[in-house]
Amino acid sequence: METILVAGGAGYIGSHMVALLVERGYDVVVVDNLSTGHAQAVKGARFYEGDLRDGDFLEKVFSENRIHGVINFAAFSLVAESVADPLKYYNNNVGGATGILTAMKNHGVKRIVFSSTAATYGEPEKQPIEESDRTNPINPYGGSKLAIEGLLRWCDEAYGIKYAALRYFNAAGANTDAGIGEDHHPETHLIPIVLQCALGKRDHVGIFGDDYPTPDGTCVRDYIHVRDLVEAHLLALEYLDKGGQSGPFNLGNGNGYSVKEIIEAARKVTGMAIPAFVEPRRPGDPPTLIASNRKAEEALGWKPRRDLEQMIHDAWVWHKEHPEGYEG
Ligand code: UFG
Repeated sequence: METILVAGGAGYIGSHMVALLVERGYDVVVVDNLSTGHAQAVKGARFYEGDLRDGDFLEKVFSENRIHGVINFAAFSLVAESVADPLKYYNNNVGGATGILTAMKNHGVKRIVFSSTAATYGEPEKQPIEESDRTNPINPYGGSKLAIEGLLRWCDEAYGIKYAALRYFNAAGANTDAGIGEDHHPETHLIPIVLQCALGKRDHVGIFGDDYPTPDGTCVRDYIHVRDLVEAHLLALEYLDKGGQSGPFNLGNGNGYSVKEIIEAARKVTGMAIPAFVEPRRPGDPPTLIASNRKAEEALGWKPRRDLEQMIHDAWVWHKEHPEGYEG
């Protein structure tokens, strides 16, 4: 049985990765410092609490386990916070990646799947966005992820560590069977905020700007079910095992939905009114982000299978069952 190390496995996407690996019969080791993750979200894995920047800690984890491959989700990921405190983001995100790559090099581990982001593109020149398009982050969060992609390239060249940098668009949904879902404090993401409103925990949703150059004036994003996302990670590991070439891969559905369309879809799924009012733009939001997922389809054999309604439905089940998140 192969052992996979999931860094950041107590977070939203990481915990869904752990659930999928466990389901598929992998032996799973999780490392997480619980700065934003939840220990309750880690089910069926060996859990080590600690920081990727702590060399002694990682040395212990890599000595106690024969790691076949690494999937690294561990990072800070709030765009606005990154603008206010770029050093915090580079220190944690780049520092964490440096730590795990150092342990991999020392222990001869040759494969890593890395959580990158659509934020590496900044304000794209065209839609849908392809991996070969210009990367030009407009915030330190995207900058820190692009810096790590650069580091991965050098580590491939120098040490033969093969990587897939998966550039996520907007992750949504939950795993209703495993009882895990999205629980951020504070919550800044659109779908959970809309659902908290449907639950009566907020009185309205603010629509951040309706004067963008989009069909209804609100920002358009490409939402992807977290289960589809984590399936792509497993395919990426298999692809690297088979000798696939390192590089970036977009993970999105290839469809764009506006903020207003999301709110409308959530009204249908939940049957709740969900009051929404237009508020000022949020700084740093590109008008439209839609993925071309052709490369992931061709190289990894990945096809997202869950639509927007399913994402909102699954997230709704999670929010209804866990109105206070994991602590509730
Ligand atoms: N939005 C609102 N009201 C809210 C919350 C969000 O109108 O209360 C809007 C945002 O302005 C944006 C859209 O809904 O246009 C989606 O916002 P999210 O915060 O849910 O997601 P983002 O697209 O900003 O961010 C996501 C990831 C980030 C990543 C980014 C890459 O969550 O980690 O994509 O572009 F950096």
